[in-house]
Amino acid sequence: CGIVGYVGGERCVEVLMEGLRNLEYRGYDSAGLALAGPEGLRTAREVGPLDNLAGTVQRRDGDFFSMRSGVGHTRWATHGRPTEANAHPHMGGGAPVGPEVAVVHNGIIENHAELREELRARGFEFRSETDTEVIAHLLGEKVAAGVALKEALVETLERLEGSFAVAAVSASEPETVVAARHQSPLVVGLGEGENFLASAVQALLGYTRRFLFVENGEVVVLTGSSVELSTLDGRPVMRDPFEVDWSAEAIELGGYEDFMLKEIHEQPAALQATLAGRLDAGGRVDLSELGLDLSGIERVVIVACGTAYHAGLLGKSALERLARVPVEVAVASEYRYGDPVGDEGTLVVAISQSGETTDTLAAIEAARAFGARVLAVTNTQGSLITREADAVLLTKAGPEVGVAATKTFLTQVAALYLLALGVAGVRGARPAGELEEIGRALRRSPEKVEEGIELLGERLMSEAVGVFAGARCALFLGRGQSFPVALEGALKLKEISYLPAEGYPAGEMKHGPIALVDEQCPVVAILGEGTLREKTLSNVEETVARGARVIAVANEGDAAAERIAQSVLPVPTVPEILSPLVSAVPLQFLAYHVAKARGLDVDKPRNLAKSVTVE
Ligand code: G6P
Repeated sequence: CGIVGYVGGERCVEVLMEGLRNLEYRGYDSAGLALAGPEGLRTAREVGPLDNLAGTVQRRDGDFFSMRSGVGHTRWATHGRPTEANAHPHMGGGAPVGPEVAVVHNGIIENHAELREELRARGFEFRSETDTEVIAHLLGEKVAAGVALKEALVETLERLEGSFAVAAVSASEPETVVAARHQSPLVVGLGEGENFLASAVQALLGYTRRFLFVENGEVVVLTGSSVELSTLDGRPVMRDPFEVDWSAEAIELGGYEDFMLKEIHEQPAALQATLAGRLDAGGRVDLSELGLDLSGIERVVIVACGTAYHAGLLGKSALERLARVPVEVAVASEYRYGDPVGDEGTLVVAISQSGETTDTLAAIEAARAFGARVLAVTNTQGSLITREADAVLLTKAGPEVGVAATKTFLTQVAALYLLALGVAGVRGARPAGELEEIGRALRRSPEKVEEGIELLGERLMSEAVGVFAGARCALFLGRGQSFPVALEGALKLKEISYLPAEGYPAGEMKHGPIALVDEQCPVVAILGEGTLREKTLSNVEETVARGARVIAVANEGDAAAERIAQSVLPVPTVPEILSPLVSAVPLQFLAYHVAKARGLDVDKPRNLAKSVTVE
């Protein structure tokens, strides 16, 4: 879910709606806003995409015009279906008191059932199935009893268990917005005569670049002219503002049909920015910015979710091959409950685009228990993960809006290659000359990715999409480094086209998935290079013999690929170890075009959210 808040000037509704627009990637089941004025609260809520709410707000412009403070919300349903009654903001009070407050919430209140019982017994009527409504009633009850909004919020928070970011307004203090954070993200945007609140900085880039990050257990009180941060027990918190270097244009379509397409095309520049200053012309890596002693690492554990996990699998193969350190890669939601083993010689690398994924943060905590050092690989300056880690390797992809990760994946992979080269260098695991040669090739990877994008003309893509005509599922096959690429290709396809897709090691396919193969289950083969290419080709032959239609991702001019496949998506030649950087790109385009051919919204696929701050 996404939260916004505003207080200060006349552009209240505009800021809230624009903020929600920029947060829509966090959830888009329903949306709403509440504004506070001396004469009371006004709210609007609508099911479905934000345009529905925008229409309502426009029609009721007169109602909202004079209001100077408010909160807004875009929802990804957790408790209760996406209906208007379940949409935020939720009004607090009700019987026996009138609506006093409006609350928006991101996260989950674990003890909501008990609180609901308790409030019911006191005469409160519930209008929704959400866990949020208990916050609204608890808060509304206190405000109605004359408690000041901030104190009422603090007292309410003491009753809540779970993870949340909440923000509220009240007619009793219409010049104020209050908010608090416990495990779900929240930032304050600083303005002149106005102040802002949001789940993520990109909500507010059109208005400010100066932010304050709110930490867990902190409460914020915003007015037009002041921002007060304090701990739950009332101690004031002093924190320096933080300037972000993302531009407002980065979250505009800039002539592209969708953000996903734009972000695929931004990959060469994103890679360039991620490598800059860390890799010199001679191919030598400099990671001194981390301030970590990389020589004492005995073992690496990589934790991540989703696409970042696939980047982690590629990080493992690079670290093991180049630096000769043993690496374990774990899905964060499993690792956190897995009673993990390790010691001070373990480096935990936590990869998270948003830097806010709850499971990944919890996996870090689990590793802390055995004394691990933690390196975060993230795209989001100042995000929670950057505060939890000992060191941060920032990917510099710029804000990613499309729910399906593209440029952040490629930059995560590049960052992990930098790490592998860096660790290999200090450990002397490989001759310096060999590492520098790979380093120089990595430096050229932005050009290679660009070249790859140019190779994929409209004709080739429509041929590939043609193979998917009538498809009911798909099998993505690869070996070695091409296996995680296959996993990522399958994930992209299922996320945005809703076709069941499996990524499988090509050699393992005959132990099960081959049973899926027929004319309606295309095989997407990532051939890679060297001996593995030959082996993968033989596996693909086995599927062809069973009627599969094949799309091959292969080096330009690969005659065997042309012979075996209905469609070949060519990639430029790069050293084998870097091949995922070029072979992931055609799979992004493939997923994109298959989804578009099916008439789907690629930027906002159903049921998904870009940033997952619940378990
Ligand atoms: C969500 C997104 C995925 C992403 C995953 C991990 O599921 O839809 O695209 O890979 O979260 O997110 P993170 O921000 O931790 O990389």
